Formats: sequence, structure tokens, C-alpha cells
Amino acid sequence: MSNMLWGGRFSGSPAASLLSYTSSEGMSLDARLIPYDIWGSRAHVLMLARQKIIAKTEAAEILSALSSVEKQHLAGTFVMREALEDVHMNVETAVTSITQSGKKMHTARSRNDQVNADVRLFMRDAAIELAGGLLSLQDALFSLSGQNMPFPAYTHTQIAQPVTVSFWAKAQYDALSRDLQRLYSAYSRINSNPLGAGAVAGTTWPIDRNFTSKLLGFGSIQENPMDCSSSRGEMEAELISVCLQTMLHLSRISEDLIFLSAQGMAELSDSYSTGSALMPQKKNPDPLELIRARSGRLLGLAVHAYSIQKGMPSGYNLDSQESKYAMMQAFDNTHPSLSMLREIILTVKFNPKKILAELERGFACATEAADTIAKAGAPFRQAHEISGKMVKDCIKSGKKLSEVSASEASSASGLKINPAAWAEAVSPDKTSRMHDLIKPSDNSQQKKDWAQLKAKTEDAKKLTMEECAKLMKGGK
Ligand code: ARG
Repeated sequence: MSNMLWGGRFSGSPAASLLSYTSSEGMSLDARLIPYDIWGSRAHVLMLARQKIIAKTEAAEILSALSSVEKQHLAGTFVMREALEDVHMNVETAVTSITQSGKKMHTARSRNDQVNADVRLFMRDAAIELAGGLLSLQDALFSLSGQNMPFPAYTHTQIAQPVTVSFWAKAQYDALSRDLQRLYSAYSRINSNPLGAGAVAGTTWPIDRNFTSKLLGFGSIQENPMDCSSSRGEMEAELISVCLQTMLHLSRISEDLIFLSAQGMAELSDSYSTGSALMPQKKNPDPLELIRARSGRLLGLAVHAYSIQKGMPSGYNLDSQESKYAMMQAFDNTHPSLSMLREIILTVKFNPKKILAELERGFACATEAADTIAKAGAPFRQAHEISGKMVKDCIKSGKKLSEVSASEASSASGLKINPAAWAEAVSPDKTSRMHDLIKPSDNSQQKKDWAQLKAKTEDAKKLTMEECAKLMKGGK
């Protein structure tokens, strides 16, 4: 017989190469699930005792062994062995080496529902961390909202119209608000309990899924066991998609800042730039370039996660184990990118002189000039043509649009152009101010919502520990 926990029907043992190949990147991914596996096992064992599926004394022994394993883990002495396949077998083997009652802890569950629950708990914490990162980055962007300094808006990477730094910052803020909404929506599906689904078909043991849900803080029960098994990887892909869209937003912000710094319109703090080993004058925006590149990693991870689902029939397949890798990588790339960008935003300096020069160079006020002529009575199409002709003349004579006077505009259009309105229209620092009329952004409700979700998981953890203490006191 093989010495694996599932070895009964085998005569030979698995090859070491097989176990190395099937383990989650040499156990490093499963190691991150240890606290969740222990929490899930605590809830499962408490439920088994409450349902009289195992004796209270047995449950107490298992719970105390689980606490010893947890202590070893916290002390850094719990060693995960590849030969035991995964975190579940490692924890169970450690428990059973402390108490023979450990042999009963896997009653009425499968590693398939167990890992599914562990990963959901991991993703719940990951989502809370990501939300924290998004909210802090929003706060950093908000700190720029007092800056009424002009800012260049582009279309086709050609100067379009003048806006303000605040206007730009709020645009990015609002995009991140949508990321937070998507994350919140994904959270509700992540926060559904698959434990109790068994391998694929549920169990005839009289389990109580409401109780494990309460102990683990799940917001709902995912009912159909086959759906539970088959959806492994789906919520992971959803979280990766949220990370992908977030990283694409971060990439865009990075690209904006790289472009502006290349033109001298923005300058990163020395703390967030690097130099060249050869060219003494260089100051490079390395972290922004890495954020831009790492958004590409997310694209790859999303394709990976969706491809895993594409190949699988209903039920559990080990393909789904790979979704763990994609999801953890997505988190590991997105979370630090949020905080890196936050630090950069808090320290970047914009150069209003260079920005104004760029706005003048690109005749950024030509639209406002056309609107002013149209407001004086010309049809917009005609006003557009007059303003376009002014730009053409300015290019020829080397003049700025702000140097065209109201009386020149009056004679070009044959209309009476108000000098004050004209001066305001053609000066880029004045035109940009009206863009601040947009509604202020506010993430205070989202902060409350996420704090509430976090408090719920903490309460559930506390409840599990209280129930463990109660049972262990009465069970001995
Ligand atoms: N390590 C596995 C995973 O992550 C646990 C479930 C294994 N189940 C199985 N039938 N081999 O999916």
C-alpha cells in the first residue's frame, strides 16, 4: 500500500518527480493558505461535533492539535513537505501526529471543497487589501485636486484643450471608483461558502453548512455541490479581471506621467527615479515603466485563468489548482503597484511654465476661441473656420493665439467680440479653470463599506475562536 493518505487502492507509491510536479510551485503557494486551512478546519470540526458526527472529546483534541500547528506556523517552524502533496495533507498529517482523532477530521469533506473554501478566504482578504490600496491611491489623487494649475489634455497624443491638474486627477480617481465597484461586486461571489460540497456530489452526512458559513463569515452558501466544484477558478478569474482593469488604469496614469516628464512638464521626486550608469544627466521614471509593463503580466494571467476554465468539464479537475497561481500572482503584482503609484503621485511636481508653453505651442485655446466667436453670433461651423484660419496665420507669423487681440477677432469674424471674454478664451491658464465645475469626487462611502466587510471577517474569526474555546472547555 502507498503511504499517502489516499493510498488504500494503490500498491506502489507516487514518484517523487510526480509529487514535485503536482505541488503548487514547490509548496510556496499552498504555504500562503495555511492560516485559512486551519480556520476552515476549525469550522468544519466544530460543525462535526455540533452535528454529533464526531465526539466532542475528539473534536477538542483536533482543535488543540490545530492550535499547535498554528503556533508552529507563526513561529516559522511548520515545514511543508512536498511528499504530502498540498497544504491540506500537511496540516492533517501534522494534526494526526499529535492526536489519532486527527483521522476523523476529514469526515464529510473533500480536499476539493476544502481548497475552494481556503482560496475564497484568501481572496476575501486580498480583495480587502486591494480596496485599501485603491482607496489610498484615490486619496493621493484627491490631494492634487486643489491644484488649479493648467494641464494639457490630449487627443491622438496631440494637444487638445487646456484643463487643470485637478481635472486630470479627478478623471483617474473616477476610474478607480469603478475598479472599487467591480471589486465590491466580485467580493459578494467570492464570499459564498463552497465548504460542504464534498468532492462534487455533496455528502449524506448530516452536515450544517449554515454553521460553517457563520464561523467563516461567508455571506451566503453556494448551494449546488457540482456548481461549487465546477466554479473553482471562476471567482479567481473574476478577481484577476478586476486587477487587470485596475492595472490598465495604473498603466495609463503611468504613461501620462512618463510623457509629461519626458517633456519637462512634470518631474518625479528623486526618491522615485533612477539614473543611468553611463549618462550622467539621466533621471528615469523606472517605477512608472514597470507599472506599465506589469499591467501586461495581468493580461497574461487573465488569459491563463480563463483558459483553465475553457478546458474543463463539470466537476473537479486538477487544472483548477493552477488558478491559485494566477490569482496570487495577480494580487502580488497589483497590490504593490497601487502603493508605488500612490507614493509617486504624492511627490510628483508639475511645471506650470512648461505646461503653459506647451498649451500655447499646441494652440490649445482654438476651440474656446471658436466658441467665443459662435457665442457672438456666428454659426459654429463658420466660427470653427475663422479660428482655424487664425491658427494658420499664427503658425505662419510665429504668433501665439493669446497674442491675437479681440479687435483682430472682431474684424476676422465681422462680429463684435467682447474683449474680456476673448482674453479669457485665448489664455490657457484662464480657460482651464472652468473645468473645475465638475462634481467633487468622494470615496467616503466606499471606505465605510470596505471597513464593514473587514470587520465582518474579523468578527467571524473571533467567533470561531470563541466556539473552539467553549468546546475545548466542555469537551475535556
Ligand atoms: N491541491 C489541490 C488543489 O489546489 C487540492 C485538491 C486536490 N484534490 C484532488 N482530488 N487531487 O486543487
